[in-house]
Amino acid sequence: MPTPVTLIPGDGIGPSIADATVRILAAAGADITWDRQVAGMAGVARWNDPIPDATLDSIKQTRIALKGPLETPVGEGFRSINVALRKTFDLYANVRPARTIIPGRFDKIDLVLIRENTEGLYIGNEHYIRIGDDPKAAAESIALITRHGSERIVRYAFEYALAHGRQKVTLVHKANILKFSQGLFLDVGRLVAREYEGRVAFEERIIDAMAMHLVLKPEQFDVIVTTNLFGDILSDEISGLVGGLGLAPGANIGTTAAIFEAVHGTAPDLTGKNVANPGALILAACMMLEHLGDRARAERIRAALEGTIRDGASRTRDLGGTASTDEFTDAVIARLA
Ligand code: NAI
Repeated sequence: MPTPVTLIPGDGIGPSIADATVRILAAAGADITWDRQVAGMAGVARWNDPIPDATLDSIKQTRIALKGPLETPVGEGFRSINVALRKTFDLYANVRPARTIIPGRFDKIDLVLIRENTEGLYIGNEHYIRIGDDPKAAAESIALITRHGSERIVRYAFEYALAHGRQKVTLVHKANILKFSQGLFLDVGRLVAREYEGRVAFEERIIDAMAMHLVLKPEQFDVIVTTNLFGDILSDEISGLVGGLGLAPGANIGTTAAIFEAVHGTAPDLTGKNVANPGALILAACMMLEHLGDRARAERIRAALEGTIRDGASRTRDLGGTASTDEFTDAVIARLA
């Protein structure tokens, strides 16, 4: 039985890199039926909604989506795409792997950042404080950390480590200063870590030191788990360590669905030119195959992609080559044969 997957090609370069990804999965023999849906500006054009109910309904059915980059429409009245997806599917874990493909400053980076995606400073609970005549004399934001949210994200990190044969989880925090909120995250993390003793190693790092160690010696890290704001910043830092946006995939894992995507945006400067690098979405599709239990096929596609990039003859422009999106895709498919 083919697996149904919701495909949201997206805006800008999205349709072109989504086509490349679909071609590569077909060439690798992945048994998937794609339910094509729209969101972003394509959703506004068709349903006057950047995240139409038809798209949400499809994901509710398939519980798996592959999503291209989306342009958020400017102006009042439109639902926020990310908020709607996060709330509908309780997407609590953002997973961002980073692996060296083109050896450069670092040859052996192979790490995964797992960011808590629903709590912390990003819950959007903030307000101004009036002092005297100044209604905006101060502003206050609340960083909400719960035992439940902390436990499930740290547990997800350990289970991910076990499922992917990884050795170590590094918990990143700032409990030395934020003794309550970050302290709770650290306390819960330590308790969860104890359950995995002997199976997965555990270490703790303070966020500022972590930012430095990631730049000095990223090879030492394996699985990293942290709260929302720190994860947001570190995930872009690690993309930069392995060659930037064109090769950065991500997954949003929820209790009722999982959504896989390229980390980059719609690249308006490249749209319609057949020059975008489809690598990030292809790698996101590999994460999706792993999630579906099809690990061997994911490894085959990843090896073909990495081989094509290392070989150098068919690199896209962002990686210093001259290949078009189609030429790069053909080269990956040729390696799959
Ligand atoms: P962007 O990621 O689209 O572009 C930044 C730079 O990276 C550009 O120079 C672009 O040409 C390059 N780039 C991005 N993807 C590439 C690829 N696959 N191959 C080669 N080069 C690539 O970020 P920007 O310009 O800030 O945002 C453009 C639009 O994308 C905005 O409307 C923004 O809201 C949206 N966006 C959507 C995201 C999503 O849906 N996940 C994430 C980030 C931005």
